[in-house]
Amino acid sequence: MTRARRMTLLVTGGAGYVGSVCAARLVEAGHEVVVLDDLRTGHEDAIPHRARFVRGDVAEAGPLLAEGFDGVLHFAARSLVGESMTDPQRYWWGNVVASVQLLDAMTEHGIPRLVFSSTAATYGEPESVPITEDDPTRPTNPYGATKLAIDHAISSYAAAHGIAAVSLRYFNVAGAFGRHGERHTVETHLIPLVLQVALDRRDKITIFGDDWPTADGTCVRDYIHVTDLADAHELALDRAEPGRHKVYNLGNGTGFSVREVLETCREVTGHPIPAEVAGRRPGDPAVLIASSERARTDLGWKPERAELRTIVADAWDFARRTG
Ligand code: UFG
Repeated sequence: MTRARRMTLLVTGGAGYVGSVCAARLVEAGHEVVVLDDLRTGHEDAIPHRARFVRGDVAEAGPLLAEGFDGVLHFAARSLVGESMTDPQRYWWGNVVASVQLLDAMTEHGIPRLVFSSTAATYGEPESVPITEDDPTRPTNPYGATKLAIDHAISSYAAAHGIAAVSLRYFNVAGAFGRHGERHTVETHLIPLVLQVALDRRDKITIFGDDWPTADGTCVRDYIHVTDLADAHELALDRAEPGRHKVYNLGNGTGFSVREVLETCREVTGHPIPAEVAGRRPGDPAVLIASSERARTDLGWKPERAELRTIVADAWDFARRTG
């Protein structure tokens, strides 16, 4: 994707999974990218070579923003649902307070654009699927609650201070972009865990419940390729309007059960991937599927790697590369 105008952009969390992929794509599109990351969960070697790296905390972005930027892409966050239940303070301070400090600094230094990583977790247990942006937001864990709180803060800062803001609510992000992929120290996500089994780094995968009200009894999720997600960020930067805060769901609109994901991973890797069924994981909704009609219509977003097989194949290439 190409843009007419080269922008200078601050990418918070640009050493993390989604942040590093987006930073890499922005660099490729010709933008000048500065990555701000404290490396608490990110990896320095994931930062694109042509981006400038500043190690630091989002809450202290002020002096950096004083240099002048066309926009901020704010990925840096605590993002483990389970941890958010046991250590909520990390989420309220690390996500909400730090983001409000970032908004203050953006306001002080007149930074005109913001694209924020929001999440499907802001909706909680949906009444119906696919989920639209107008559906009720009733998060079932502190992680989702903190992301929703930031969305509210962004709305008021955009209205009061003229920031052109977009929140992108990711559903289940997977896949990789070359050397940029998912490698969390504490891994909780289905596809990377399954691929660890295929690499013989774990014996088996645990299926969290097969008594859900779904066709095969396992939870259903909407998987989106990380590069399609990155494309949406570029479009959002382009289409953001001063004084407005727009919210878009990002998914493919198709759900796959845990068993279907396992089957696809077996096909892609050629590994039998043993699985055992355990109890449900607290806080898991049965089905999460996005309606991304608004992103398609308003942003002109069109996912190019929507097939689950493609998503898994790219994640597998990355997993084998990083071992
Ligand atoms: N699962 C298993 N076994 C595992 C890991 C996951 O059966 O070892 C299941 C989960 O129960 C769930 C599905 O696989 O049904 C997907 O789980 P992930 O942990 O990969 O993803 P989540 O759907 O829990 O998480 C995603 C985003 C979060 C967001 C959440 C909203 O990654 O950021 O949706 O519910 F908060």
